[in-house]
Amino acid sequence: MDQLTIKTPLLPFREPLNGGPTFLLKYENLQPGGSFKSRGISHLIKTTMDSISDPENELAVYSSSGGNAGLAAARACATLKVPCTVIVPKSTKPRMIKKIESAGAKVVIFGDHWKEADTYLREYVMRQSSYSNTLYVHPFDNPIIWDGHSTMIDEIIEQLAESHTDINDVKGIVCSVGGGGLYNGVVNGLERHGLAGSIPVFAMETDGCDVLSKSLIAGEPVVLDRISSIATSLGSTEICADSFQKAIKFSSKSIVLDDKNVVDTCLRFFDETSILVEPACGASLHTCYRPELLGPLGPDDIVVVILCGGSCNTYDDLKSFH
Ligand SMILES: Cc1ncc(COP(=O)(O)O)c(C=O)c1O
Repeated sequence: MDQLTIKTPLLPFREPLNGGPTFLLKYENLQPGGSFKSRGISHLIKTTMDSISDPENELAVYSSSGGNAGLAAARACATLKVPCTVIVPKSTKPRMIKKIESAGAKVVIFGDHWKEADTYLREYVMRQSSYSNTLYVHPFDNPIIWDGHSTMIDEIIEQLAESHTDINDVKGIVCSVGGGGLYNGVVNGLERHGLAGSIPVFAMETDGCDVLSKSLIAGEPVVLDRISSIATSLGSTEICADSFQKAIKFSSKSIVLDDKNVVDTCLRFFDETSILVEPACGASLHTCYRPELLGPLGPDDIVVVILCGGSCNTYDDLKSFH
């Protein structure tokens, strides 16, 4: 059975700490592409395929991410039997190139960083394409991608109802923020269910990848000069305009952690569960070990943490960051 996405488990994270809230983890690391990215990116590719009226005119997909977005695009294309090309910057880990290629995509290495690879993709590679239908897949900035991500909220609400959990006990949803695609999906999903005003979203970043936090402090979207955190999957120099506006509209709390916090969290989580996630995900997971970061919460409260996953790091990488 080859699926574009799966319904991921929503499970309690061990016994609550003394008097602390119950944390429920949404296991997005189990998606076919190893992260939540599979939801939005497969939705974009499938929606585009379905909109092509002439089946003779095949679709070709183009991504510029050497990270989890590129892997999600490659996996979705393999399932949908659509050709996929991923242009990755030279800094991309050989391990990710191998994973993207193993999923059946063609990988081209170009440029010193994402912006160069992305410009080359859009201004050269896609223009040379022999396919009459081409789809450019941005790693996060596309409302159709956010729609796909938002299905995790539908599932969470369904799963809470199945376990007879009162939605009013949910006092927060914790998600990591890079460019803001995941955050937009979470907020859009909550809005669709009329919950965006009552369930706060905690937006997690790392020092050096904190473009949302810096933008909120500045009162306008800022552009970072460079990315200096090891949580490279959160490494976007810009935040979606929509994320910035939603964060203000719904008073989302932005929390910035240092690299040591998130690496320690990933290693500790691995020791406890044998599940390996990236520092990008460790940023959200960290709140399970330090609930006080989320404000005053009691034993009757529930917090949902999006375990966003990620395949970019090995255990040895995490140890060496340490
Ligand atoms: C594992 C992981 N978590 C979080 C994020 C942040 O997502 P977004 O860029 O949609 O904010 C990413 C982005 O690549 C990611 O790969």
